Amino acid sequence: MAIRQPIITIAGHVDHGKTSILDKIRGSSVQEGEAGGITQRISFTLFPSENIKKGCALIDKYGVPLKIPGVLFIDTPGHAAFTNLRKRGGSLADLAILVIDINEGIKPQTSEVLQILQANKTPFIIALNKIDNMSGWKKLDDDMRKSIEMQPEHIKRTFEEKMYMIIGALSSRGFESDLFYNVEDYTQKICLVPCSAKTGEGIPELLMMLCGLSQKFLEKRLNVGKDAKGVIFEIKREKTHQYVEAVLYDGDIKLGDEIAIATFDKPVISKIRVLEEILPLSSKFKASKKVSAATGIRMHLSEVKDIIPGMPFQIFKGNIDQIEKEFKKDIGEIIKNDEQGIIIKADSLGSLEALVTLLKQHHVQILRSGVGPINKKDIIEARANKKLDPMNAIILGFNVDLDEEAKELENQVKIIKDEVVYKLIEDLEKWMDEEKKRIEREKLQSLASLCKLEILPKHVFRNSGPAIFGVAVKGGKLVPGTNLITDNNEKIGKVKAIQAEKQSVQEASSGMEIAISVPGVTFDRQLKDTKYLYSELGESQFKEFKKNKDVLKQEDIKVLQEICDMKRKEKATWGI
Ligand code: GTP
Ligand code: MG
Repeated sequence: MAIRQPIITIAGHVDHGKTSILDKIRGSSVQEGEAGGITQRISFTLFPSENIKKGCALIDKYGVPLKIPGVLFIDTPGHAAFTNLRKRGGSLADLAILVIDINEGIKPQTSEVLQILQANKTPFIIALNKIDNMSGWKKLDDDMRKSIEMQPEHIKRTFEEKMYMIIGALSSRGFESDLFYNVEDYTQKICLVPCSAKTGEGIPELLMMLCGLSQKFLEKRLNVGKDAKGVIFEIKREKTHQYVEAVLYDGDIKLGDEIAIATFDKPVISKIRVLEEILPLSSKFKASKKVSAATGIRMHLSEVKDIIPGMPFQIFKGNIDQIEKEFKKDIGEIIKNDEQGIIIKADSLGSLEALVTLLKQHHVQILRSGVGPINKKDIIEARANKKLDPMNAIILGFNVDLDEEAKELENQVKIIKDEVVYKLIEDLEKWMDEEKKRIEREKLQSLASLCKLEILPKHVFRNSGPAIFGVAVKGGKLVPGTNLITDNNEKIGKVKAIQAEKQSVQEASSGMEIAISVPGVTFDRQLKDTKYLYSELGESQFKEFKKNKDVLKQEDIKVLQEICDMKRKEKATWGI
């Protein structure tokens, strides 16, 4: 049975050198050709085994027989979140290289990649890149192990300090790791390969480890099946034609074949009008009549409506029912939604899945999930949540923006967008926490309003019937209808109306100076010597407030305490 190329993803934090390592491996210079040196999208490189042998004399030296026909590398952009490359039953990548700048260590996107690799159980090795950037480091031998051993003592120490920092950080995340030549059991420890994409040192070791690991662990996985299967990476819609870039990870595919591509609805059946395959060691494609897994392809299709990046496809032989069932099982899990919850959008199926997985871990319910920009429908649905459960009136956008229509409605609901998935979840939890407090505070304040007022004795406008006088709100808030008591716990009466700057208002908050009218009280008899007024509070209301102290503002708690102290002067057990 034929063995295909293993698919190897290169992932890691922005600028840690993913593209440069690939460049060094293929001996070209793509990184310099990229806009701003930043990888904008996923790309692949086919690397035949002859070149591996040429580039890596170590393979012969260590006697690793090369059975794989080469490898297919996939470069991912680090500026956006790690795009979860997936296929049915797990990761599209058979192996991964996690690139870490040895001088910077583990950064946010490094952590994110680690989480996804862990969730998908993808075996990986770590390239400790930019070793040449360590001050004093010199390449002293072609063999990385010897080069490390030959460094002057203090350089070796600096290197070890940096490396142990990384080993420690990995360990705290549940990964045991060590220098590649110290690792005996690759299932127990992750290999660290120090390297430099600039000088090329360590790159042969990186290749050797990849080939060794592929052959050791992936043989079964690399057996090529009969049916062509792949994943769509990118869809380009141009005026006269539209094409998709994809990875074929199983089987063969021919020009003129029909393929079924999954969508959120029914599968799309499309004929391959033009078939192109990526050229080895290049980013160019050439027309082809038949291609075999694993490889990068470009297809002009007769039908691309509703296709989104990350969707699986397979050869279509009239077996629509079976395919539909398979696709449903495949993507159904990702978009299986709860009866109520928040709304989430992402830029591809893979990133959506990553977000769903992490939200589930945080017990966040999802009402609807989708791929594409945040649109009007999302906002309307999130807005409808305000009545059902205000905590769900939120949209999360992972790597997506709002479309034009949605932009006009942007301020109607809370929208959080980010390119880093854990940041999204962190912000969501912060918002939910604040929202919960706000809601409870409102609920409490509807029970009774809590306030402390200072009488402004120079502003008595009317002595009685009703008494009208000025007060400054010192804490809490005052609403019409609040029952007032003095600081001696004497009942005064209900506030009828509130005026601020001669306008009647329904609420006065801390810091405001206002005039209030209170029927049934005679100012010069009852209030002449009073400095403060408080809102009246029953014992059961007090207990309720006390129970929910964590949602009260600091100044509300102070007012509550003062009322309590006053009440307990008369009755020591008040509110207990
Ligand atoms: P994104 O695609 O934007 O996520 O970045 P990347 O991880 O692909 O990094 P890239 O290869 O674009 O490298 C970033 C910068 O680091 C470039 O200026 C490279 O020249 C430089 N660089 C990469 N590897 C090395 C290395 O081993 N040594 C030194 N000195 N510089 C390096
Ligand atoms: Mg890059």
